[in-house]
Amino acid sequence: MMQIRPVRVRPIIEKDLALVRAWMREAPEAPRWNEDDLAAVLRTPLEGERKLRRGWVAEDAEAGLAGFVVATALCISGHRAECELEFVLVKPEARKRGIGGMLVQAVAEWACSLEANEIRLEVRESNARARRLYERCGFAVVGRRPGYYADPTEDAVLLRCVVGD
Ligand SMILES: CC(C)(COP(=O)(O)OP(=O)(O)OC[C@H]1O[C@@H](n2cnc3c(N)ncnc32)[C@H](O)[C@@H]1OP(=O)(O)O)[C@@H](O)C(=O)NCCC(=O)NCCS
Repeated sequence: MMQIRPVRVRPIIEKDLALVRAWMREAPEAPRWNEDDLAAVLRTPLEGERKLRRGWVAEDAEAGLAGFVVATALCISGHRAECELEFVLVKPEARKRGIGGMLVQAVAEWACSLEANEIRLEVRESNARARRLYERCGFAVVGRRPGYYADPTEDAVLLRCVVGD
């Protein structure tokens, strides 16, 4: 029988930011964003804005916030929107419950709502956990950026997932 988890995914709000920033500071995989990068996720874009950024959190009814995901979309009139999954993180004690998959799914639904036909992302070659998650969610390798990451220097693997029709 399928187990029902008391976890829901909802858009990120101001009061989530302090915890999300703390997780990012502690995670070696996290990009080094400044205060403004994350706060930008909360700004509702004006009509006609071309670059959108959105964030969602996974919230466990019993244990509080469990993870988050941030994605961007480039929306240029007359072209299909281009979506990028920037970063997903599940706090260590909440991992291996399918929450990472739920967060990636939120991005896929957003991409579909924007009529994008794909989501792209890059990941450190050695990040096996994240690569397994993305592969399970339908992403496939489409390229590589040699030496893209620093400390330590490492290649980025470029992944793509087709969404919509
Ligand atoms: C990558 C990351 C987001 C995955 O989050 P997660 O919530 O553990 O992801 P899932 O639970 O969907 O899947 C993880 C594993 O748990 C397994 N799993 C999922 N639901 C499960 C369940 N109910 N019971 C047991 N195992 C389960 C999955 O099969 C998967 O196994 P695998 O790694 O052997 O393939 C998390 O490890 C993380 O935050 N890492 C650090 C940040 C990071 O690297 N982000 C990506 C940068 S690009």
